[in-house]
Amino acid sequence: MKIAIVGTGYVGLVTGTCFAEMGTDVCCVDIDARKIENLQKGVLPIYEPGLEEMVGRNAGAGRLHFTTRLEEVINEVDVLFSAVGTPPDEDGSADLKYVLDVARSVGRSMERYLLVVTKSTVPVGTAEKIKQAVREEQDKRGVSIPFDIASNPEFLKEGAAIKDFMSPDRVVVGVESEKAKELMSRLYRPFLLNNFRVIFMDVPSAEMTKYAANAMLATRISFMNDIANLCELTGADVNMVRTGIGTDIRIGNRFLYAGCGYGGSCFPKDVKALIKTAADNHYPLRILEAVEAVNEDQKQLLFKKLLKHFNGDVKGKRIAVWGLAFKPETDDIREAPSLALIDKLLEAGCRVSVYDPVAMPEARRCLGDAVEYANDIYHAAEDAEALLVVTDWKVFRIPTWSVIRKLMACPFILDGRNLYDKEELEVAGFTYHGIGR
Ligand SMILES: NC(=O)c1ccc[n+]([C@@H]2O[C@H](COP(=O)([O-])OP(=O)(O)OC[C@H]3O[C@@H](n4cnc5c(N)ncnc54)[C@H](O)[C@@H]3O)[C@@H](O)[C@H]2O)c1
Repeated sequence: MKIAIVGTGYVGLVTGTCFAEMGTDVCCVDIDARKIENLQKGVLPIYEPGLEEMVGRNAGAGRLHFTTRLEEVINEVDVLFSAVGTPPDEDGSADLKYVLDVARSVGRSMERYLLVVTKSTVPVGTAEKIKQAVREEQDKRGVSIPFDIASNPEFLKEGAAIKDFMSPDRVVVGVESEKAKELMSRLYRPFLLNNFRVIFMDVPSAEMTKYAANAMLATRISFMNDIANLCELTGADVNMVRTGIGTDIRIGNRFLYAGCGYGGSCFPKDVKALIKTAADNHYPLRILEAVEAVNEDQKQLLFKKLLKHFNGDVKGKRIAVWGLAFKPETDDIREAPSLALIDKLLEAGCRVSVYDPVAMPEARRCLGDAVEYANDIYHAAEDAEALLVVTDWKVFRIPTWSVIRKLMACPFILDGRNLYDKEELEVAGFTYHGIGR
């Protein structure tokens, strides 16, 4: 089977490459000519473990192609996935501009039956808008070419995207026809050999499933952050509480880590968009409104702790920040808690040195010369009066504390991801604060 993936960003590139890995002939399309030119040379726009090699292998085998010209491939494929971005609009709703642009391009160029699958995260009711946009373009041409739509939201995690795509917990597919169901079954059959589940449902339910999943995960994080803050006030340790509740199989142990807030390209915008969908339907989602408010406060927590430690006097102090990516194993800094923290530090007149194993080029694009970029964790800690740990990278887990102690001007550590043992650090001569301990 031949397929096209329109939008060769994070999701589109991983999706296209993984389908190619299973033997499908895939053409990845993007309007960003530079991105496509680079991909044709094997240069990837993102960092994702294992992806570069997989792209090279499949492109080399002639199963994975890259182009900017949708009209040249659309009539050679049976299924077209749309994986373009759905950034937040000013009012918090998902901006469907790119999704509808793709739908209109499809309506303008299609000459034969096509299954149009939405992989982007889109609010309930978007499939109807896509259908309408395709039909309007066909009407302008005076043609009526049959097509189906499907919703196939993506659940991959940045940093583990290939594994998540190749052996997912489940694949959710919303369909409206037997033909669409048959095509999607055929496409996902190679993955089925590994025994995972494809769950077919109606289109609105599939669209809602993606938002409900992200909202639930964000809720767990904010819930634990709220509990962590209460732990601090009452003398409990959130790590112990996490273990205590996570071993209950009704609760499970994932997504229960307290920290300095969630970020990334999905949770913040998807929580906002679901709140907006609810408001549009005159049903306030009170729990999610609280989830968002707790997260906004949590992103300020390290800065507040820093102020408290120095009695509000941080002007001119040199502060080291370890970790810029919104989570480990990615260079994605969209909505990263590190950025909210660095903003506050700079506003307060601190001098900031940063280190991240892969996100420094992305950070440089966004922060410019406002901070100093260190070569490694030790370099970042030099002369610092506080060290703030924001991302849970493996390379941060066992630093040589004796070296750090000598390098820092003041041995103060604020651990935004609860990576370290308080006692061990105190023995090593540091003042240490985690979250909820
Ligand atoms: N990043 C994730 O971890 C993740 C996970 C699950 C779902 N999603 C969802 O998937 C969607 C895509 O996210 P992403 O992170 O891959 O976005 P992205 O911004 O990395 O990529 C989007 C790509 O679409 C391209 N594009 C825009 N308009 C186009 C058009 N008309 N034709 C062709 N290409 C076009 C852009 O140039 C860009 O390369 C979003 O809805 C997102 O919410 C993302």
